[in-house]
Amino acid sequence: SERTLVLVKPDGVSRGLVGEVISRIERKGLRLAALELRTVDEATAKQHYAEHDGKSFFNDLVEFITGGPLVAIVVEGTRAISAFRQLAGGTDPVEKATPGTIRGDFGLEVQFNLVHGSDSVESAEREIKIWFPAL
Ligand code: GTP
Ligand code: MG
Repeated sequence: SERTLVLVKPDGVSRGLVGEVISRIERKGLRLAALELRTVDEATAKQHYAEHDGKSFFNDLVEFITGGPLVAIVVEGTRAISAFRQLAGGTDPVEKATPGTIRGDFGLEVQFNLVHGSDSVESAEREIKIWFPAL
């Protein structure tokens, strides 16, 4: 079994989609290992998205992620990393995410794409340490 770090980003929380996202995770057969509503500071956001430091959208992304409460979740199960990335859909909610995915069903803009999911075992371990150091 595997663990992945999922975020319901501030746009997902403000639009009332937390239950929708959690429901899809549970119906897939994945389990919740930790869950918290949290407003994150700039340093944590920059650490989480360190791989994008220097990119054109980095400052907007950090501002967005710190702009309101989000829900951080550790999701556990067989092939959890890949399974959640499939549930989320591609980064661009219109061009890449297909209907039936979270982003494909509810998103319109690349930045406001509702959820985050770790993209590899290494990322998942790194990110879970940032968000849930006690786990
Ligand atoms: P995450 O699960 O959030 O990491 O998304 P991802 O893995 O599908 O995409 P990636 O890691 O490449 O980008 C991280 C986040 O930055 C995306 O989810 C978007 O919110 C934002 N982002 C990525 N590319 C762009 C872009 O070209 N413009 C803007 N404004 N935001 C972007
Ligand atoms: Mg990513």
